[in-house]
Amino acid sequence: MLILGIETSCDETAVAVVRDGREILSNVVVSQIDIFAEYGGVIPEVAARSHLEAMMPVVNKALSDAKCTWDDIDAIAVTHAPGLLGSLLIGTLTARTLAILHNKPLYATHHLKSHVYANWLITENQNNALGTRSSRPVVTGETSPNRSSLVANGPESIISDSPCFPLLALVVSGGHTQILYMKAHNQFEIIGTTHDDAVGECFDKVAKILGLPYPGGPSIAKAASEGDATKYKLPHPKVEGLDFSFSGLKTAVLRAVQKELGLPISHPSHDLKNHLNSQQVADFAASFQKTAVDILAEKLQMALETYPETQSVVVAGGVSANKALREALPEAYFPEPSLSGDNGAMVAAAAYYEIQSGVEPTDPYKLNIYPRISIES
Ligand code: KG4
Ligand code: ZN
Repeated sequence: MLILGIETSCDETAVAVVRDGREILSNVVVSQIDIFAEYGGVIPEVAARSHLEAMMPVVNKALSDAKCTWDDIDAIAVTHAPGLLGSLLIGTLTARTLAILHNKPLYATHHLKSHVYANWLITENQNNALGTRSSRPVVTGETSPNRSSLVANGPESIISDSPCFPLLALVVSGGHTQILYMKAHNQFEIIGTTHDDAVGECFDKVAKILGLPYPGGPSIAKAASEGDATKYKLPHPKVEGLDFSFSGLKTAVLRAVQKELGLPISHPSHDLKNHLNSQQVADFAASFQKTAVDILAEKLQMALETYPETQSVVVAGGVSANKALREALPEAYFPEPSLSGDNGAMVAAAAYYEIQSGVEPTDPYKLNIYPRISIES
């Protein structure tokens, strides 16, 4: 089954064609990072306009890269929640129009679900990644399509193992930080969530304090590689159970920078970067990154103790590209780094497993968007 997946929830215009939820035939991502680097963050109206300009060329490129015509496509999938209102509108209106025009069934997927399903996608690079991607458990059974050969016709046959149920998914993106419990495909229960900022948002805000460019996650990771992660001691938030809080960590970095520079707490945060030298920036980036990763790893460990029947752990969302996080969780599944951020392939994958779970297509004349809806609804 070939699904064309469309993703426009934030600042990437992305379309992909995926076979049977796993094999990527094409994956086109047009990022607006260059536009927003100038502003230091996403401007929703500008994002929506950029999606509008890029949308149809990206759809057409995804089809041609996959060597497909509309006749080959079995279904269309699109992100309808959560995300920026204007951005979601462009993607869903495009998908609705294409579904009506080409008479294809339409599936609407939740963005976090799609991030989780990036862990089922396979790419040629995963031949190499398999060494680092371990299978915590080895179980057999209906829900454990372990070590199945998935692409037989590539230059080399690609062997991939898949996560097994029940599993825990750590979702770490710019807008969300959650631990999900999945009993089976397409069943999501939130067992931990952030009380305030998402961890990706925290990376972005700390990067701003340190004067590192947008998006903050990759900039912090790069600067951290030159820094001493033990230089500054930053506190772990005291949050009950499996929940998170990241706004205090951002403030802790702010206070530590002011202290290091001998400036009062009233000193404006936007000016601190002008007083920091590159070694201080690297040390703050490394110390912050280590603290954020430790917090995530600790909560995940607690979740594993609370749900001892867990068979696999998957990590999903933009922050799953982070190398330090990957190193801290060697037993977990991670998407191929290029699939950690927003893309259309994960949307097609999520829709495929929805279809397998018996979900019916949505009415293209009625599909709505939900900028803030939970994965459980
Ligand atoms: O999933 P995503 O692309 O968009 C949302 O759904 O929010 O996540 C974007 C977030 C941003 O906060 C970005 O700074 C962060 O992911 N990110 C990273 C890295 N790459 C992207 N955070 C830490 N390390 C990275 N290498
Ligand atoms: Zn995302």
